[in-house]
Amino acid sequence: MAKNVDLFIFGVAGDLANRKLIPALYRLDSAGLLGDNLRIIGLARGEMSDEEFSRSTREILNQNLGEGEICDIAWTCFQNRLYYMSINFEKAENYADLNCRMESNRLNIFYLATPPSLFGSICHQLHASACVDGSTRIVLEKPIGQDLASSRDVNDTVAQYFEERNIYRIDHYLGKETVQNLLALRFANRVINSQWDNTCIDHVQITAAETVGIEGRWGYYDSVGQLRDMVQNHLLQLLCMVAMEPPNTLEADEIRAEKVKLLRALRPINGENVEGSAIRGQYSAGWISGKPVVGYMEEKGSRTGDSETETFVALKAFVDNWRWAGVPFYLRTGKRMNAKVTQVVIAYKDNPHTIFSDSQLQASNRLVIRLQPNEGIQLEMVSKKQSLKERLNLEKRVLNLDFFEASRLSRIADAYERLFLEVINGDQWLFVSRDEIEASWQWCDSLLRAWREKNIDLKRYGAGSWGPSKAEMLIEKDQRSWYEG
Ligand code: BG6
Repeated sequence: MAKNVDLFIFGVAGDLANRKLIPALYRLDSAGLLGDNLRIIGLARGEMSDEEFSRSTREILNQNLGEGEICDIAWTCFQNRLYYMSINFEKAENYADLNCRMESNRLNIFYLATPPSLFGSICHQLHASACVDGSTRIVLEKPIGQDLASSRDVNDTVAQYFEERNIYRIDHYLGKETVQNLLALRFANRVINSQWDNTCIDHVQITAAETVGIEGRWGYYDSVGQLRDMVQNHLLQLLCMVAMEPPNTLEADEIRAEKVKLLRALRPINGENVEGSAIRGQYSAGWISGKPVVGYMEEKGSRTGDSETETFVALKAFVDNWRWAGVPFYLRTGKRMNAKVTQVVIAYKDNPHTIFSDSQLQASNRLVIRLQPNEGIQLEMVSKKQSLKERLNLEKRVLNLDFFEASRLSRIADAYERLFLEVINGDQWLFVSRDEIEASWQWCDSLLRAWREKNIDLKRYGAGSWGPSKAEMLIEKDQRSWYEG
């Protein structure tokens, strides 16, 4: 780890910094992983002294960490790292002040937890005020653009001031323990990787369901929708980790090159195939965990009238390469769904011939890779039921790899903890390259265009359900069903 690091968090007063970034940094520090000489400089518009910033940080930690996670010794150490600077992100003179506060011989990391519309001007001002040198790193939160053209604009602008090797584009799903575990599962286990293709696998399901709604972000979300908010980034990254070819090594460039190849092999969903391949939905009022919740159009901040924005997407996608020819990938994500669950399900093919009678249980193997909750991997198998009464009866059993129990830790690290460490260490393997961003936008743009041109209507679904019935039909017409176990 670099010895002297200054981590500048732009937008430190925002929701992301409060809920994720500051708690992650505190946890890393408590675990002794931040090194001795790392300083955290929060930047936001409001006027505040360092002491006031420290007090508000303590409140944020109290609100966002579990009971007993804050201890006096760790807090004192963390507090000594904290500094604050008030800044108007668009004012040149503020960046001159920032430059004056910067010290030589330190690695500077600028973390932009700001609206993406500010990325360009912040990078420009940082550069114009000589705050950037060849080693300075910049971290960008999603979204990078709203489509291929705008993502190119953002990437071009940032590229004027930072080299690609110093640009860290976050997709926080890549920081999740189970997503990295996909690499171990696939490439460290012969028994898995030898069965990982269209000869053995019938289909793949990727689900990212949330019970939350728009969480006060209606204005932003309504201009984006679930495809841009979740599919373009998180679901496609998951798909890459599941389906990419083995990289030659674990070097960032090798992994990222394989992901780009995979994204480019995704069959476009366009005007010709959109009808059988992509469902869009929007939630109406319903019940979540026994409590009534309003529909999307009644959420706080909504405008009157109608909105055509989707809060749910179900897709059937194909990867046109040798390994995956003919294997459907069913993707599904939505707000206000029945449960918070993110998982990948690998459904294996049936045996070519069965020696068991029709009355005996017939079940194909299924590998369930769960990102949240209860991180772990389960392999569903069929085995003999223990009983002397029957000659040979079958039952479904589960091989269970529970990461939480296996790690013997009190908790599994949050994605942002891992991602901070990688930025500080200068390793890009869990960050998204420009080529990946652009390839995934290209695929999403085609789908968005098809929805628009074909006037594909929104299907309503009640909050607390598993999405519109059309999403069930999307998979059931292929004699398959969504895994909800
Ligand atoms: C964010 C989306 O990127 O991911 C949110 O903008 C979504 O809308 C969130 O709620 C989901 O993240 P996680 O880690 O809770 O699955």
